[in-house]
Amino acid sequence: MADLQAILDSIYTDILPRVGEGKVADYIPELAKIDPRQFGMTIVTVDGKVYRVGDADIAFSIQSISKVFMLTLALGKVGESLWKRVGREPSGSAFNSIVQLEHESGIPRNPFINAGAIAVTDVVMAGHAPREAIGELLRFVRYLADDESITIDDKVARSETQTGYRNVALANFMRAYRNLDHPVEHVLGVYFHQCALSMNCEQLARAGLFLAARGSNPMTGHSVVSPKRARRINALMLTCGHYDGSGDFAYHVGLPGKSGVGGGIFAVAPGIASIAVWSPGLNKVGNSQLGAVALEMLAARTGWSVF
Ligand code: DON
Repeated sequence: MADLQAILDSIYTDILPRVGEGKVADYIPELAKIDPRQFGMTIVTVDGKVYRVGDADIAFSIQSISKVFMLTLALGKVGESLWKRVGREPSGSAFNSIVQLEHESGIPRNPFINAGAIAVTDVVMAGHAPREAIGELLRFVRYLADDESITIDDKVARSETQTGYRNVALANFMRAYRNLDHPVEHVLGVYFHQCALSMNCEQLARAGLFLAARGSNPMTGHSVVSPKRARRINALMLTCGHYDGSGDFAYHVGLPGKSGVGGGIFAVAPGIASIAVWSPGLNKVGNSQLGAVALEMLAARTGWSVF
């Protein structure tokens, strides 16, 4: 294998002069306070080696990356019947768009846009009080990363609860189409807490390692999902993980990946490694600007593109 630490160091050298590019998410007041001049990256290989650079040990709000973990839980609960509630096609529209919902009977295009993720959260909540569903997700992520120190940032969750009008609209719309079983406030309470999971690059790369390793985490020995399910989750990340920037990310990076408005991107080199990168400045479609640049450099310097 290439000298991954040397590659990470070279990426860091190239990125450093640009650190601060992009615009932090300001529609969630608590995220608007984050200093954009930060960059960290971690690679965890399927043989258990960890490589890191920059601010890889600073915890950040993983936001929409949590949708991958919630999707994994929902598929574990209801299997393929999940797809009655949510589609599997790229949306070509913004992560918080409402336009397709009306034309498509309240069935969101995919599990990674906000509407789809809210429906997925509703599925995971079946038989649980909201607090228990949040607990289940937190336990799951801690188990995946083998790290009990992972927490949810209540301030971020509260900040979004106070300002998440669009998500309230999306959830009410789906409820009107009977595509939410639980009260809107309960589902959004869970959804805002899942988005407020606070993790550093290393914790995130470890938590997602099962997706790079045919469904099992080689560091913990835990079998999480079948190889087929891991492949399918990766397919969804590749086609839908960056919203209306998914085609561009596939074109430039060529790896399944999921972004969040906290500035994190989780990516998978199947059979090789999981990668987490964080830099809070976002591009126009709400994905980490330098995170995507760094992943493009990584894919070019390692040859890890799936294409
Ligand atoms: O629901 C929201 O708008 C945020 N909690 C998450 C959005 C997000 O991370 C989109 N990612 N780029």
